[in-house]
Amino acid sequence: MIRYENGSFLLSTPNTSYVMQVNRDGYLGHLYYGKRLDRPLVQDFLRSEEIPSPSVKPGEKVSFLDNFPFEYPASGVGDFRENCLEISDSEQVFGFEPLYKGYIIKKGKPALKDLPASFGHDCETLIITLEDNVRGVELDLGYCVFNDCDMITRWNVVKNLSEKDIYLEKALTLCMDMELEGFSVIRETGVWAREHQAFFTQIQPGVVATESSRGESGHEAAPFIGLVSSNATNETGEAYGFSFVWSGSFLGKVWTNSFGLSRLVMGVNPNNFRWKLKAGDEFTMPEVIMTYSSEGLGKMSRNFHDFIREHIIRSVWKDRQRPVLVNNWEATYLDFDDKKLIEILRTASKAGLDMLVIDDGWFRESKVEPEGGLGDWVPVKSKFPDGFTPVVEEAKKLNIKLGLWFEPEMISIDSDLYRAHPEYALSFPGRVPALCRNQLMLDFSNPDVLDTIYEKIATQIRESHFSYIKWDMNRPICDAYSRYLPADQQGEIFFRHVLGVYKIQEKLLMEFPELLIENCSSGGARFDCGMLYYSPQIWTSDDMDPVERLSICEGTELIYPVSTMGAHVCKNQNDISGRLVSFDTRGLMAIAGTFGYELDISKLSEEDLKKMPAQIRLRRELDKLINRGEYYRLSSFDRRGYRIPGSIAKSYDCMEIVSRDGSEAAVWYMKPLYEPDSRGSRIKLKGLVCSADYDVTVITDADSYFNPDTALLNKRAISGEELMNAGLCLPVIHGDYTGVLILIR
Ligand code: DGJ
Repeated sequence: MIRYENGSFLLSTPNTSYVMQVNRDGYLGHLYYGKRLDRPLVQDFLRSEEIPSPSVKPGEKVSFLDNFPFEYPASGVGDFRENCLEISDSEQVFGFEPLYKGYIIKKGKPALKDLPASFGHDCETLIITLEDNVRGVELDLGYCVFNDCDMITRWNVVKNLSEKDIYLEKALTLCMDMELEGFSVIRETGVWAREHQAFFTQIQPGVVATESSRGESGHEAAPFIGLVSSNATNETGEAYGFSFVWSGSFLGKVWTNSFGLSRLVMGVNPNNFRWKLKAGDEFTMPEVIMTYSSEGLGKMSRNFHDFIREHIIRSVWKDRQRPVLVNNWEATYLDFDDKKLIEILRTASKAGLDMLVIDDGWFRESKVEPEGGLGDWVPVKSKFPDGFTPVVEEAKKLNIKLGLWFEPEMISIDSDLYRAHPEYALSFPGRVPALCRNQLMLDFSNPDVLDTIYEKIATQIRESHFSYIKWDMNRPICDAYSRYLPADQQGEIFFRHVLGVYKIQEKLLMEFPELLIENCSSGGARFDCGMLYYSPQIWTSDDMDPVERLSICEGTELIYPVSTMGAHVCKNQNDISGRLVSFDTRGLMAIAGTFGYELDISKLSEEDLKKMPAQIRLRRELDKLINRGEYYRLSSFDRRGYRIPGSIAKSYDCMEIVSRDGSEAAVWYMKPLYEPDSRGSRIKLKGLVCSADYDVTVITDADSYFNPDTALLNKRAISGEELMNAGLCLPVIHGDYTGVLILIR
């Protein structure tokens, strides 16, 4: 719901409100974001009468603007905090002063030009127009308020109404001026194989920031920033979350001054960004989705999950059972050929798998090094003398679908495409460009490059009927010089690169609407709402060790639904951690995700092979619950650096997914290290129906799901009231790295 009354805008979702007001001088101020309000605010939260030093009277511009809670601050006219918009003209920054002009409210949500964005019908859009007449520039601040969930989204359109070209030096989407005493900032950071590690930093005067300048959202930082009150737990306290619908460089920052006023900003990273806005043109900034919860971090996560499922993911696969697949990467790395794939296919058929994904290496000569072939995208003769035909025919016979790996943004120097078009690669004139995995970045600002790469991918899909592609991206952008763009548009490369990725994925989905895309970036380096608009699942991490996954998954689940998280059963011993974990535990833990196998199934022991059909069946039976259920974090495994301000981290990890009607739930529990002479954990479940009776089965292997007599615990008729209030007493679980799945029905 959106209301406008006496210069105030009140935006309300079922449980939250957001309030703005225009002050007497025409500045748009931010008053409130938090628990829902049903009456307009009456106090002066703009603090118009306060006189911050060194001013001598209220409203004196410099000190006043430096403390005014701006809805959208710009540079150079008296607010010295982080600003959102910087405009230059002929190399000079002249300042920008956006003053209120008017507003419109409309039903529904407009699409954003060339950008992924949330969508929906049960929502309203508010556009507030600000203008700077001196510059001849107008700014439309866009807000969409959703009625079915606690989410408000924001984006902006800058319009150059002047007669000369201008440059956007900085264009951040969101600003939120707030008073956040005692709050902490949540950021997600990490590295390859340790993505999405959440950290909490208490707010003090100064800056807490999260950012990527790599051209992708990156391992080091996820495009998310959150705030939690000092007492927050998973169920209590206040939490705010801001997630960027963008897959490139970004900035999220909380800047607090000595008066205790905090400014949170989020948007495209100004590093390597400069956009030429020609006279008469407009520029749309990517969307930020934001939510508030007065019921702790858990509700914040559930708000994100619901919204992402209903209003970000478009794929026809969203609610369908996704294929249970085997991917040959960790099975073979680059050393495979058609015969090896046929061997895997035959085992896959016996085990009941749906799909084989052919990973990196099918187009390269090398069996060892990732070098050559990127950009050509044709099966290499030495591994596929008859192309994909023998594999395609065998798969057809066995009724198994096929998927194929691409890294479309890259080019190898050893490729026909590079030999024909060296100008397709980004590189500074006169400097040898930096290689990473022996590869260069393609210039995605060049439409010919996009068309060429599109055709190469589409040809393989058309010829061999691939129903899935894994779109990988394994290096950051540097040497960002385009032979296609003119000199004064070189600052657009990073932004245009991401637009190019979106454009190809959109075109693929137009030509192949049934295509399942799984995005990936060296594991989970580009896991964001932008990519989810094109693919309902993203590869979470190359680290599939169930113990390592605990923190990777917890961090990812803080924002994204479990149904979006690529998860496979890894080999024993795990290649990254060297850890030995039973096939049963690896299987049960990977079920909390899209599920598949990433090991040489043709070499599995008889014993493990026999377990596969039950694991696959169990994943299929839980599919609806995992895809549509509600997520509750019951316990966080104690690890370095991670502490929700009001909670204690424990010696075990526990996560629950419960159906919306509370009739069934699945709970994943793992205590990585056995503690001698310890007691069984007592866990309190969530989301059940108090008066209902439940059967509880605790299993250490998938087979026990179908033969409950072999389960670790099998109890009948425990009330929801008991399970939620008194808890469930688990038996002591012996051994290290053992996980159990608890089924409540
Ligand atoms: C990185 C991905 O995360 C892996 O799954 C695999 O596809 C490799 N790239 C292939 O080079």
